[in-house]
Amino acid sequence: MKKKTLAMLLTLAMTMGLAACGSSEEASAETVQEETAETEESTETEEGTETEEQQTAEESGEQEADAAEEKSADSQESAQESDEHVLIAYFSVPEDVDTEGVDAVAGASIVVRDGEVLGNLQYMADVIQETVGGDIFRIETAQEYPLDHEPLVDQAAEEQDADARPELSTQIENLDQYDTILLGFPNWWGDMPMPLYTFLEEYDFSGKTIIPFTAHGGSGFSNTVNTIAELQPDAEVREDGLSISRSEVAGAEEEISSWAAGLGL
Ligand SMILES: Cc1cc2nc3c(=O)[nH]c(=O)nc-3n(C[C@H](O)[C@H](O)[C@H](O)COP(=O)(O)O)c2cc1C
Repeated sequence: MKKKTLAMLLTLAMTMGLAACGSSEEASAETVQEETAETEESTETEEGTETEEQQTAEESGEQEADAAEEKSADSQESAQESDEHVLIAYFSVPEDVDTEGVDAVAGASIVVRDGEVLGNLQYMADVIQETVGGDIFRIETAQEYPLDHEPLVDQAAEEQDADARPELSTQIENLDQYDTILLGFPNWWGDMPMPLYTFLEEYDFSGKTIIPFTAHGGSGFSNTVNTIAELQPDAEVREDGLSISRSEVAGAEEEISSWAAGLGL
């Protein structure tokens, strides 16, 4: 009788134990399902966000493309309307600095003229045009450069290491009308900025004269004049280009002007 009671009690205890176990497994399975649902939800949210971001990026990409088209159309229009034979093509990245000149390193990359902030090469190109006439053409890239000094020098170094050819967003449509190209660029890491390579490989300046001008932090032209001659073997690349230290550009209006006037254009 005692054995029977003990057996019954044991059976009862085992049944209860299994039932408890089952419900805790169910509970933990539910928790996993809930967690999975939450994860899926958050994945959906993330994907949803990504889609919105993509849309925004697409829209802004379209806007950028429109702006680039407009820009290119503008320069084309002004050039087609003119009968100029001189083209002043330049590349310039006016670094984003305190225009009071507090940032002494990067501050030397800009000139403030009539309240307008210009890159050194942009300023030089303007003075040249005021002196000899001609059409202005700004070489611009599809991907804009950072205007802060450190990221800018880093990106320029990476592009040079990779021998990159950054895509241009502005085009000369009427190259035939020009016999002389004044070509302005800053010295970047002892060389031309890589977009200048894209530019010089994209166009054929055979039979034309190229006159380089540069601004720099001490390196002058480095070897860039020879490089231009190598990239455009059938153009005449003049040796009497203008090279001005970046710290002197802002005060060099007269020097730039008399150099341009003496070119015989
Ligand atoms: C990425 C980068 C690299 C540079 N590397 C050199 C260099 O190797 N030698 C030099 O003399 N100046 C160098 N400079 C100074 C520029 O040539 C100078 O600031 C120039 O005036 C910039 O012209 P911009 O304002 O029209 O772009 C460098 C500037 C930058 C932004």
